[in-house]
Amino acid sequence: MNVIETKGLCKSFRSPLKKPGVLGAVRHLFRPEHREIVAVTEVDLAIAAGESVAYVGPNGAGKSTTIKMLTGILLPTGGEVRVNGLHPYHQRMRNSKNIGVVFGQRTQLWWDIPVIESFTLLRDIYEVPEKTYAENLAYFTGMLGLAELLHQSARRLSLGQRMRCDLAVALMHNPAIVFLDEPTIGLDVAVKERIREFLKTVNRERGVTIMLTSHDLGDIEDVCRRLIIIDAGRIIYDGSIQGLLDRYVKQRSIRIIASARIDQPSAARAMPAGVEIVHADEREMTVEFDRFRYTAKDVLEIIMTAAEVVDFQLEEPDIERVVKNVYEGRLELEQGA
Ligand SMILES: Nc1ncnc2c1ncn2[C@@H]1O[C@H](COP(=O)(O)OP(=O)(O)OP(=O)(O)O)[C@@H](O)[C@H]1O
Ligand SMILES: [Mg+2]
Repeated sequence: MNVIETKGLCKSFRSPLKKPGVLGAVRHLFRPEHREIVAVTEVDLAIAAGESVAYVGPNGAGKSTTIKMLTGILLPTGGEVRVNGLHPYHQRMRNSKNIGVVFGQRTQLWWDIPVIESFTLLRDIYEVPEKTYAENLAYFTGMLGLAELLHQSARRLSLGQRMRCDLAVALMHNPAIVFLDEPTIGLDVAVKERIREFLKTVNRERGVTIMLTSHDLGDIEDVCRRLIIIDAGRIIYDGSIQGLLDRYVKQRSIRIIASARIDQPSAARAMPAGVEIVHADEREMTVEFDRFRYTAKDVLEIIMTAAEVVDFQLEEPDIERVVKNVYEGRLELEQGA
């Protein structure tokens, strides 16, 4: 059964077009002109219960706008939308009982009261049975490490602490679906890790459907099995993550740190075809390689013949680059056809 379904979903914004200066403002008063911004166009989604989906795209692609239509914050300007069989905007109250929402940039907690009191207020708003609430509170407190945070006011929490509390809030009423719009933005690696673990666990153990937006490929690869890419309001890829990487991401890179100065000319000579030094410093080097021809281990061994490696890091391509590759791959396909 599909818990999220859209057909030809569209959202345009009308924004006032004002010429600069007082004259412009006065003119606008008498003869207002508008510009139409197409944020989302012809989006078809079919997401089944229990899936974990990453919704990805460059800045301004239409991700947040889509999430806002699915959560009932925005009314679509075209197309159909159903979430758990409901119209999210027209049946907003009922819809909100079935979904949890996390916006990385905002909080659902009240600033000035202890976190636990925000929890109980939301429990009452969502009419969560006392037993469910007690079980969930214990479960989330353990998994997200909330014990020391519950009696502090939200105002005094760090970003990572607040985000952990917000996740608990989003899931406290046992929603079937949770929407997360950049839940790891601005967080350090340790907190990101914890949040990813948490999301994977609730998806696996409780069957919660997850739809997540992020610019962090690590989040996406770790938490989600399916990837939907949106660019300029349109879906350009919908499929498995592995399928995308295999098809469009041919290169990977390794960055190494050396204990001594790297002899660049001899390092360059050591690299075989398909392995290329793309950045080099005194004691640092980034090497890009063809992931179909070499494993990271192969490449590291080659580098170690030319440099005293003390540390290394595998770097994943950023999402902008993946999107670019998808386009280029398409062009190739079209030219080939
Ligand atoms: N309330 C609004 N009024 C006018 N234009 C808007 C409004 N909200 C969004 N837009 C425009 O719609 C487009 C899509 O915005 P959206 O916030 O959905 O992008 P996004 O994919 O979430 O980007 P980001 O990665 O930066 O969060 C952008 O061009 C944006 O300027
Ligand atoms: Mg956004």
